[in-house]
Amino acid sequence: MNNPPVLISEEKIRQRVDELAAQISSDYADKGDVVLIGILKGSFIFLADLSRRLSIPRTIEFMAVSSYRNTSVSTGAVRMVMDVRSNIENRHVLIVEDIVDTGHTLKYLIGILGSRKPASIRTCTLLHKAESAEVDVRIDYIGFGIGDEWVVGYGLDYAERDRSLPYIGTIQPDDRA
Ligand code: IMP
Ligand code: MG
Repeated sequence: MNNPPVLISEEKIRQRVDELAAQISSDYADKGDVVLIGILKGSFIFLADLSRRLSIPRTIEFMAVSSYRNTSVSTGAVRMVMDVRSNIENRHVLIVEDIVDTGHTLKYLIGILGSRKPASIRTCTLLHKAESAEVDVRIDYIGFGIGDEWVVGYGLDYAERDRSLPYIGTIQPDDRA
């Protein structure tokens, strides 16, 4: 099978991750330790790259959620599959997502983590499908805005395929079947 066409190249991703890391490092400079919470599985590569470029003290946690989808269409229901392993009370939390589509997943995460009394909670996503928003959710750091199309690579999949592609590519609706 051919590789999906390139939407965002490795070079563009690298540049943008550098910019995000610089912005986040400067915003948190006077705050002390930040807990980066990567949302599995999609954020694992972005989190690895972003966390290594930050110049502030940080620790890494993971959560896994499953959003109920009929293949690529969201139903809006979200369920936790794996929780973080440490107490986040009084700590600065930065949720790191691969992509925000309808916004249901991020809204659920902010609700659950916000209820644990963190010192602050912010959100960062590599990709944002602005046209697809169904709920209002605050995103503090956005890598790239994209259209309503299915993307794979750099951690993102379609039916577990293409997560390890080094760039972000698009899958055409015909290929989704
Ligand atoms: P939301 O709850 O609709 O915002 O969906 C968020 C989750 O759906 C993301 O964390 C991804 O796991 C998945 N998702 C949404 N759009 C895409 C896409 O284009 N490619 C891969 N995964 C996606
Ligand atoms: Mg995800």
